[in-house]
Amino acid sequence: MDAATAWRMVRGMPRQGTHQEKLSGFYAAQADRYDTVREGLLHGRDGMVAALAARLADGAAVAEIGCGTGRNLECLGPHLDRLGPVWAVDLCPPLLAKCRERIAARGWERVEAVEADATVWVPPRPLDAVFFSYSLTMIPPWRAALDRALANLRPGGVIGVVDFWVSGSDGGDPERHGAWTRWFWPRWFRHDGVHLGPDRLRALRAAGAVEDLRTDRGRIPGIGLSVPWFSLVARVGSPSAG
Ligand SMILES: C[S@@+](CC[C@H](N)C(=O)[O-])C[C@H]1O[C@@H](n2cnc3c(N)ncnc32)[C@H](O)[C@@H]1O
Repeated sequence: MDAATAWRMVRGMPRQGTHQEKLSGFYAAQADRYDTVREGLLHGRDGMVAALAARLADGAAVAEIGCGTGRNLECLGPHLDRLGPVWAVDLCPPLLAKCRERIAARGWERVEAVEADATVWVPPRPLDAVFFSYSLTMIPPWRAALDRALANLRPGGVIGVVDFWVSGSDGGDPERHGAWTRWFWPRWFRHDGVHLGPDRLRALRAAGAVEDLRTDRGRIPGIGLSVPWFSLVARVGSPSAG
């Protein structure tokens, strides 16, 4: 990890300003190295995007919410030629600038980077698929962002999410984490503006018919500890292909 990224993570998410100002303050100095640093930390992204893409018909309209640098669009790669419009939505200008550079470099004519808040963004047409990769834990009003995303989907559309989480203590989750895990990880990540708990996965499982669900643990580079993550793909509304 480079010094600028390490220093920013030690200082944590800025405490003052709007959510957008905090995100920019947190990510501006990391933007150049974001992809390299996060590659070993954000587990399960390729698998979730592949599971989602496999369910999409030609011409499907897709959005990634909280796209950051657009790294996950690379996973859509083989599918981009056959998909319809793809919107890459984020509230953080320094990361979105990297995403725009990537779109231009790759010549992805149907991909558009959009600066917008996930809680209010409405696409120009109903979506066939929407996905969040490690962004739902970084959006404080996550329920509003999820509700907005679900409302943006056509009936029978698919939602994909991959993120860190910890279970509750009541046994209502796909696995039950021990007390130390449930205590430690929310506190570790809170400093960097990332909020872990059981609620997001519970809301997602209740939102639609789950077609793909995986829970696992992934190493945090450099510290030898493993953090729980999940990936889920669910169909929302009446079941239909693509
Ligand atoms: C940990 S990064 C993940 C980026 C990317 N999805 C990935 O997998 O590498 C979380 C992203 O969520 C974005 N984000 C946070 N709050 C947001 C909001 N309210 N609306 C849109 N994006 C938001 C951040 O700017 C950041 O790019």
